Amino acid sequence: MLEARAAVKTLHAYRPPLAGRQGLRLDFNESTIGCSPRVMAKLRALDAETLARYPEREPVEAEVADFLGLDAAQILLTNGVDEAIHLLCASYLEPRDEAIIVVPTFAMYAIFAQAEGALVVEVLAGENFAFPLADLLARISPRTRLIAVANPNNPTGTAVTPDVLLQIAQAAPDAAILVDEAYFEFHGETILSHTARPANLFVARTFSKAYGLAGLRIGILAGDSKQMAMVRCVASPYNVNAVALAVLPEALRDQEYVQQYVAEVLRGRKVLQQELSTLGLQYWPSRANFVLVRIGPAYAEFIQALRARGILVRDRHTDPGCEGCVRLTVGSEEHTRTLIAALREVIEKLRERREVRA
Ligand SMILES: Cc1ncc(COP(=O)(O)O)c(C=O)c1O
Repeated sequence: MLEARAAVKTLHAYRPPLAGRQGLRLDFNESTIGCSPRVMAKLRALDAETLARYPEREPVEAEVADFLGLDAAQILLTNGVDEAIHLLCASYLEPRDEAIIVVPTFAMYAIFAQAEGALVVEVLAGENFAFPLADLLARISPRTRLIAVANPNNPTGTAVTPDVLLQIAQAAPDAAILVDEAYFEFHGETILSHTARPANLFVARTFSKAYGLAGLRIGILAGDSKQMAMVRCVASPYNVNAVALAVLPEALRDQEYVQQYVAEVLRGRKVLQQELSTLGLQYWPSRANFVLVRIGPAYAEFIQALRARGILVRDRHTDPGCEGCVRLTVGSEEHTRTLIAALREVIEKLRERREVRA
């Protein structure tokens, strides 16, 4: 009988709650206003020939590299950051190698690492999700071949300084260090601007968040050109679809659109955090387009009550250290106002029933 590899059989499938997402979607950190109208115009103008041909990645890769101030050999366009993680795991992890992650964090690092048969070493974040640098450094072993850090981190919204990331890269020269900058645009700081980046350090970016293109599945993996040549060997030459490649240059050119949206999100994040303080709820100041808040034992009723008001938010209560926590995406100002109005109502109702502490 055909059997999947032992490593695959032990995987727990990651099934994000994608069903029934009608309403104001503040559950996946997507853009709530969608992509630039210039991208939509380009999309509408696509012809049948573009779709008939196999996609050509290189010319677009050269434009993206130029935008980032890198050489084309230093980047690879990927089918979202998800694929970038997958390719790094496939390129560097042998069975029984170790992959270190700091938890709570994005789920896909562990899944792709485990699929290669690697052992995932989880280092628990400190108080208030402080980055556990000393603990992480102490867990580096001769078997450590991958260390993934989301910066800013999902679901906590916390960030680390470039100095911390460089220390990790230096401490583990035989490991691929992935700095996942999926939320870079909302944070504004990047390790990519450090000219003395070690050769084992990789940076991932996505167009799924600030650019509003999650449905197109497009991301970037950047790194040392020799290492990227290795990763490229593992990737399909057609990993990024023709539609994404056709519109990506337009998305990059319309920086005004992206920056306006980012500015709106940053204003909304501040207002939302102030509101959470006023409501007396514990939250963690965020560097991304979402805020993690502790609702307490009534988290499920809270999520349900928001859903009844047409607002979807994300249950994170099973993440380590996130008991009773919910993640709220920050969207446009109008959407944040809608969220805040619903939050006030729902929290008040739950407090009347004494399900959320005042
Ligand atoms: C930290 C982090 N990395 C990567 C992703 C996935 O990005 P993409 O849509 O480019 O695969 C997410 C999505 O939520 C994320 O939070």
